[in-house]
Amino acid sequence: MNKKEITASKVLDRVLVLEMVRVTEAAAIAASNLVGRGDEKAADAAAVEAMRKAFDELYMDGTVVIGEGERDEAPMLYIGEKVGGAPGKGPKIDIALDPLEGTTITAKAGPNALAVLAAAEEGCLLNAPDVYMDKIAVGPGYPPGVISLEKSVTENVESVARAKGVSPAEVIVCVLDRPRHADIIAELRKIGCGIYLIPDGDVAGVIATTDEDTTIDIYMGQGGAPEGVLAAAALRCAGGQFNGRLVFRNDDERARARKWGIDDLDRIYLLEDLAKGDCIFAATGVTDGSLLEGVKRLRGGKMTTDSVVMRASSGTVRWVKGEHRTA
Ligand code: FBP
Repeated sequence: MNKKEITASKVLDRVLVLEMVRVTEAAAIAASNLVGRGDEKAADAAAVEAMRKAFDELYMDGTVVIGEGERDEAPMLYIGEKVGGAPGKGPKIDIALDPLEGTTITAKAGPNALAVLAAAEEGCLLNAPDVYMDKIAVGPGYPPGVISLEKSVTENVESVARAKGVSPAEVIVCVLDRPRHADIIAELRKIGCGIYLIPDGDVAGVIATTDEDTTIDIYMGQGGAPEGVLAAAALRCAGGQFNGRLVFRNDDERARARKWGIDDLDRIYLLEDLAKGDCIFAATGVTDGSLLEGVKRLRGGKMTTDSVVMRASSGTVRWVKGEHRTA
């Protein structure tokens, strides 16, 4: 879709768009205190608490539609929780968030941990259940339908290679390093593709396809469905194509999906199905990665943050370098 065709939301005030960076900055700074400390839970909890607090500073009537889990599983930022400093008064905004995308990465001081959120008008973000999702994504500049979950790995690689004008063996694919991806990896190896195996963090993996500097052409594989909605919101802003299909391992997961109003369990979701209308995506790096630098503590009581905030209607991508006092 041509970004110019996306109508700017009056609810997503321009000031609010920029303010979203404060929220991801707060979460990233809090999590950064626990980088390399081997404690995933503590890092996540710190990010959650800081993000929750930062939302209260914003004039909005927000509702978490993708969060830390269901109400009985998560004490804060659970699905359905109201956030923002103007409940009942401010603009009604739905929020998908992951205060710490890459808890294990943070605990091990690995690359690409992020604090992320997406925001859109009420009802515009898919209420995705916490199940896996088959995903395939490419960045901007390709003809519509260049990738499809209905095609095989080889067909997708050949299709992207044709559109890019290179041989299939020159295509670089990003895949989460998991045993469940053994077949995908074997098929890619047979073609001779470059495989960029990531330990965690598929939101960054999908977004990497939008940045030619990363050299990644395609993201493919199974990751969390909530992360799929966040990545889709980013691609709505930065451009690109995405297919997602929920993966159910048991009846309990199928029941979860039905509870959120999902009846067609085999549906392939395109970008607009996951994040429609105007939307915002914001992220701040916790550790250094392909998209953003991590939080750095400098001498003299300073620290720096690196963030990006994007908006679908304008297609504007703003890179925000923050300098903060540590005390
Ligand atoms: P967490 O931050 O919740 O640990 O998620 C990291 C992540 O790698 C996601 O980016 C990805 O979608 C998901 O986990 C993959 O799940 P699994 O680790 O079960 O393969």
